[in-house]
Amino acid sequence: MADLAFQQCINPECRATVDLADTAFRCPACGSLLDVAYDWNRLPLPKTLAHFEKKWSNRADPLDFSGVWRFRDLFPFAPDDTVLTIGEGQTLCQRADAVAAYVGLAPGKLFLQYEGMNPSGSFKDNGMTAAFTHARMTAATRAACASTGNTSASLAIYCAATQLMRAVIFIGSGKISYGKLSQALEHGALTVQIAGDFDDALRQVQDVSRRLGIYLVNSINPFRLEGQKTIMYRILEALRWRVPDWIVVPGGNLGNVSSFGKAFIELQELGLIERPPRLAVVNAAGADTFYQLYERHGLRWNGGRFDKLKLDAYMQAMDAANRRADTLASAIEINRPVNLPKALRALERCGGVVREATDQEILDAKAKIGAGGLGSEPASAATVAGLLKLVKEGIVSKDETVVCVLTGHVLKDPDATVAYHTADPATFEAKLGKRGVKRASFANRAVQVPNDLAEIVKAIELYA
Ligand code: F0G
Repeated sequence: MADLAFQQCINPECRATVDLADTAFRCPACGSLLDVAYDWNRLPLPKTLAHFEKKWSNRADPLDFSGVWRFRDLFPFAPDDTVLTIGEGQTLCQRADAVAAYVGLAPGKLFLQYEGMNPSGSFKDNGMTAAFTHARMTAATRAACASTGNTSASLAIYCAATQLMRAVIFIGSGKISYGKLSQALEHGALTVQIAGDFDDALRQVQDVSRRLGIYLVNSINPFRLEGQKTIMYRILEALRWRVPDWIVVPGGNLGNVSSFGKAFIELQELGLIERPPRLAVVNAAGADTFYQLYERHGLRWNGGRFDKLKLDAYMQAMDAANRRADTLASAIEINRPVNLPKALRALERCGGVVREATDQEILDAKAKIGAGGLGSEPASAATVAGLLKLVKEGIVSKDETVVCVLTGHVLKDPDATVAYHTADPATFEAKLGKRGVKRASFANRAVQVPNDLAEIVKAIELYA
């Protein structure tokens, strides 16, 4: 299959092709990011997207059971017998009228794509199954990542469930929530805590992987992004193949937005959809490099000729000031997003926007999402916080159909949730107050009652 799928430089002035089995994940000619590319003319393709519904009746086959691999015709880089799946991608696109009311959308217009239902509790499994399969195709025995917690949890689970590889995980000190750290430890990953943050860890892991020949599964790996395209296919399927007006996604390392953009560009070029949705990326205000560059400094893809000098100057100024990412949404606490050029491309092709949300706005949105019936971690709630702004600004109108991608499960970061809802000011202060959160407007506080039947009955009748 090697000649039908290959890697290709995203720089339109280079377009160098790279062998499918190469694991450097950088263009050898110009150093740009790589895409996985296909010779679609020689590949069998469905005539309509509805074709994929037929796979449901073949669920006894693990590849058709997987919510990722049943769409493999749209990322055909792996022979079926090399695929490693643990049943990822059984996720839900839920209509969310209560949250729609919060952001100002009409009933029936907001959907939440709940990726917390994946085996490791986040969207990462969509991409990990694809990268892991590629790793197996290259006969790797060790796989590494730097992580704010979810990539590492996902890698640890794939290694443990398949026993095919050893997981090596780099995390920043004190920068990972306990839910995620516990997964890495429980599933037996070698966990390396670096005295630094995610941006430092990502730099280190790339050098270490190169030196030791360890397979890298961060989202610089284009095979990861191929798996993440399927989140969009499942959304289209849930909407009966109607393209929504907007997809809203949190922005960290910008793998998701890059992958979603690629999915829609391909579907359009293959004639399977007429138009892409618009993409909205939401940064945390304490980690807002993409927002700053795109909305404040006017950085654009510009057909691939984006202003590298502007990008480099911004990064150098950040380094010189030693400016570090700082947000309670620890999953997206990233100031040097590695996929930035691909994200610019996605926004150009899909008519995108970027917004930022403060920790206060994120935690309030998170409580509203939870009260509406789906539990998410703070980074995921940035989507709803950002959408609230876009509706207020009139950029999203109340009758447009919007899907927010909830990337990670509420149990990933129970500390943030408990601190928000606590009745104890000291607990609130220790976790949230000292990081700038002033109030918990939508807190659901536990009711304190004496150990006495009459008092308990009285309290219940008062509140429920
Ligand atoms: N949401 C969650 C829950 C995440 O874990 C991440 C990234 C993102 C959003 C941002 O996605 O990088 O595609 O823009 N987490 C990575 C990790 C960095 O290491 O787990 P992105």
